[in-house]
Amino acid sequence: MPAHGLAKTRVELMRIAVTGKHGQLAQSLQERVATIAGISLVCIGRPELDLARPAGLMQALAGCNADLVINAAAYTEVDKAESDADAAFAVNAAGAGAVAHAAADLGLPVIQLSTDYVFDGEASLPYTETAKTNPVSVYGASKLAGEAAVIAANPQHLVIRTAWVYSPFGKNFVKTMLRLAGERETLRIIDDQTGNPTSALDLADGILRAAHAVVHPGFKDWGVYNIAGSGSTSWAGFAAHIFDKSGRAGGASAKIDPIAAAEFVTAAKRPSNSQLDCTKTETIFGYRAPDWRKSCSIIVKRLLAES
Ligand SMILES: NC(=O)c1ccc[n+]([C@@H]2O[C@H](COP(=O)([O-])OP(=O)(O)OC[C@H]3O[C@@H](n4cnc5c(N)ncnc54)[C@H](OP(=O)(O)O)[C@@H]3O)[C@@H](O)[C@H]2O)c1
Repeated sequence: MPAHGLAKTRVELMRIAVTGKHGQLAQSLQERVATIAGISLVCIGRPELDLARPAGLMQALAGCNADLVINAAAYTEVDKAESDADAAFAVNAAGAGAVAHAAADLGLPVIQLSTDYVFDGEASLPYTETAKTNPVSVYGASKLAGEAAVIAANPQHLVIRTAWVYSPFGKNFVKTMLRLAGERETLRIIDDQTGNPTSALDLADGILRAAHAVVHPGFKDWGVYNIAGSGSTSWAGFAAHIFDKSGRAGGASAKIDPIAAAEFVTAAKRPSNSQLDCTKTETIFGYRAPDWRKSCSIIVKRLLAES
């Protein structure tokens, strides 16, 4: 049985509209859905659908003829958002709200993606869904405003917070590390920020499990959920695992010089501990992501094979 737990023969027909067509999550959902009979995706993205210009949104979503909407589109450039707040809020707050509103008008549930960066990182324990939010970046604030907009616009909502997403697609930390390891002998990597590296393919599995539950009449557990890789590490620990797997497989590897975040100046501040507690997702949807090391090893191997 695949990790999303949806057997080929037991799934009813479900059609899902997904925004952010070219992003890591949308591409991962497409790959996973290809293994499930009875579920189809209609992915929409720019230029046909621009969340910064929501005028055409309703028509685009109505044309999907879907049972559920997943908003995977987002302004995800965390550092750029510091000097581009209007654009980040237009997409992540107003845009997300508009997607949820259009879904509500069509009578459809919406799944909105959010982030561990809604937290300030000062907690010592992993964050549950009810933990106090306090973003320390424009990106985090825009995503938190998006959560509120979605919750207000559509009572049938899941807000799924995730973290440190990587995949075979798009831009991400794993791909950047493999590229840099081919260019430099030693890399300075932050070792005092802790989080849960999350494979977008695992995230897709968890979302599909949740999607399967919410389209059933009588589903009532709307609200906020966490889905992230099991286990935690620092960016330096994440990189060490990537280089270990890559080096053993004959790919690029580099030495790591672990540094403090204070030594690596970025436009946006990031939480020092943004681990997410994913117990609620396991309880309600029966999904727990694999250990991040296992999933990371799979993606590194795949990226090396594809390079
Ligand atoms: N990546 C992470 O580490 C991470 C961590 C926590 C949470 N998340 C959340 O998880 C979700 C999925 O992230 P991801 O990694 O798949 O993101 P991604 O790879 O950066 O993809 C984002 C997608 O959003 C689209 N987009 C940006 N602005 C848009 C606009 N104005 N109108 C329509 N589409 C727009 C992009 O379109 P183009 O292809 O046209 O640029 C892209 O396809 C997002 O909600 C993100 O905030 C991500």
